[in-house]
Amino acid sequence: MKFFIDTGNPGEIQAAKDMGVLDGVTTNPTLLARENKPYKELLAEICRITDGPVSAEVTAVDAAGMFKQGKDLAKIADNIVIKVPIIKDGVIAIKKLTSEGIKVNVTLCFSSTQALIAAKAGATFISPFVGRLDDISTSGMQLIEEIITIYDNFGFETEVLVASVRHSMHVVEAALMGADIVTMPFNVIEKLLNHPLTDIGLKKFLDDWAKVKK
Ligand code: G3P
Repeated sequence: MKFFIDTGNPGEIQAAKDMGVLDGVTTNPTLLARENKPYKELLAEICRITDGPVSAEVTAVDAAGMFKQGKDLAKIADNIVIKVPIIKDGVIAIKKLTSEGIKVNVTLCFSSTQALIAAKAGATFISPFVGRLDDISTSGMQLIEEIITIYDNFGFETEVLVASVRHSMHVVEAALMGADIVTMPFNVIEKLLNHPLTDIGLKKFLDDWAKVKK
């Protein structure tokens, strides 16, 4: 399973890279706005750090505007992937962008029918938002299971990119289901390592080592 980091912060991206777990980056307008830098320069910096795909989201809501913005964003670097919302105009933009060889990450997916349409339109990645579904008392991970089953049934090549990940169990369940990618904030990546028995065990080893004759 590939790990993407969901951030616009170059320091966090470099830290994930240093840990050897960085397969790609997802950004969105909210995450880029937090960094307070010109967005194209910021995306270029992120693309330089990252060897894998970097998702950059369009903000136009009409097909022609999304296509134009997507083409413009794609010029920033070879590893840019255009993030397009799953609305009717978005579907038209997905087809146009992919027909020009530009990779598309379809975002704001909350149902398996949206995921099915995205795959039929040729999406490279589908991003179902599991945390935001959980927030409204609906199972985000059940949606992932449905999408994986539907894509497997028909051999769609669109990769399932689990997004809006809030905690380690989202990652465990996504891995058990065979999701292609999980994108998560840096603090979730760090939490994947946490185990109290590791901390207790390390402390005991270090305490005992202090007693060894040197
Ligand atoms: O980048 C899209 C997604 O991962 C957003 O997550 O936490 O804002 O629901 P969140």
